[in-house]
Amino acid sequence: MENRAADRVGIALLGSGRIGVGHARALSGVPGVDLTVCDVDVGRAERVASELGARHCAIEEVFSRGAGIDAVVIATPTSTHEELILRCADAGVPFFCEKPVAPDLEGTRRCIEAVRAAGIASQIGFQRRFDPGYAEARRRVRAGELGEIHRIHMLTCDQHPPQEQFVATSGGIFRDCLIHDFDALRWVTGHEVESVFATGAVRGDPFFETYGDVDEAVAVLRMDDQTLVTAQTSRNNGQGYDVRMEISGTRANATVGLEPKVPLVSVEPGAAFPDADPWVDFIARFEACYGAELAAFVDVVRGKTPSPCPIDQALEALSIAVAATRSCREGRVVRLSEIREN
Ligand SMILES: NC(=O)c1ccc[n+]([C@@H]2O[C@H](COP(=O)([O-])OP(=O)(O)OC[C@H]3O[C@@H](n4cnc5c(N)ncnc54)[C@H](O)[C@@H]3O)[C@@H](O)[C@H]2O)c1
Repeated sequence: MENRAADRVGIALLGSGRIGVGHARALSGVPGVDLTVCDVDVGRAERVASELGARHCAIEEVFSRGAGIDAVVIATPTSTHEELILRCADAGVPFFCEKPVAPDLEGTRRCIEAVRAAGIASQIGFQRRFDPGYAEARRRVRAGELGEIHRIHMLTCDQHPPQEQFVATSGGIFRDCLIHDFDALRWVTGHEVESVFATGAVRGDPFFETYGDVDEAVAVLRMDDQTLVTAQTSRNNGQGYDVRMEISGTRANATVGLEPKVPLVSVEPGAAFPDADPWVDFIARFEACYGAELAAFVDVVRGKTPSPCPIDQALEALSIAVAATRSCREGRVVRLSEIREN
């Protein structure tokens, strides 16, 4: 860190699109952060920066000496993450990067290796680790309060599909969307996935097919303790944005996301729950978590705390997503050992 007031941290946010705007707002609210916004679309960076009273600069400046940048937050399209992480490693700058680290395992491994060699701190944007519901589920599972876990059901459903250009570089629905559930599954249970069977369909915009992607998918996973897991995802969930995790044990169960804004409609006579306007998207549902993970990252940069989600955590979640993608394309059960060994 350069010689400024010890509590000031210069952060460059790369990418001010859908998630980047929210990250810019969250970072500008963290005490002691001097924010610089960068985007290949310079006008967009300028607009976001001026709204927040932040600086904006060209990407090249971020990695130059004397720019006052102590750490980088990467919120650019997935296809650009590897190059930017390698630049952070070269410059010895700690970084936060949105998920997934890279669309493929090779790129992810190259990043992990570069980060290890550079000895820099890293944090990946699995924001559910900062959600009070997921955290409480983890506590109950780890404390044995549910008994032995036998079944888990998870889902992440968007109300509306993303734009075509996002789908083109997203890596597909398992790497882009269900990867959050795969990370949460490992984080909550402390167990690893052994095998996956996945299937999918295109029921909405035909452009998903152009990129070998689907807009509806289901995965059935077997964990290393034989827990059976179903995970569903959709890009067209008309009622609203739906994220849930239902964990069933021999003693009790625990459900994440079962609160008044869950986009469910009960047709039981007299049932009044849920009764609030449903979540519309991930920005609304996870706003507080994005803020918490970025505040935690600033503490990581200040050396106050170890990273809550270092880059190696991204490899296992991506491996499950790669296995699910392969299963969906080839119509067979894929064992994780097949993915990890390649
Ligand atoms: N954690 C979450 O819940 C979550 C949610 C949405 C998106 N994401 C991830 O965030 C990333 C961005 O997604 P998005 O939906 O915001 O995309 P987006 O397309 O809306 O925004 C990307 C922005 O990055 C800019 N950009 C492109 N290349 C750049 C470069 N090399 N340097 C600087 N800026 C560049 C673009 O001009 C654009 O403004 C993706 O990796 C995605 O998977 C995470």
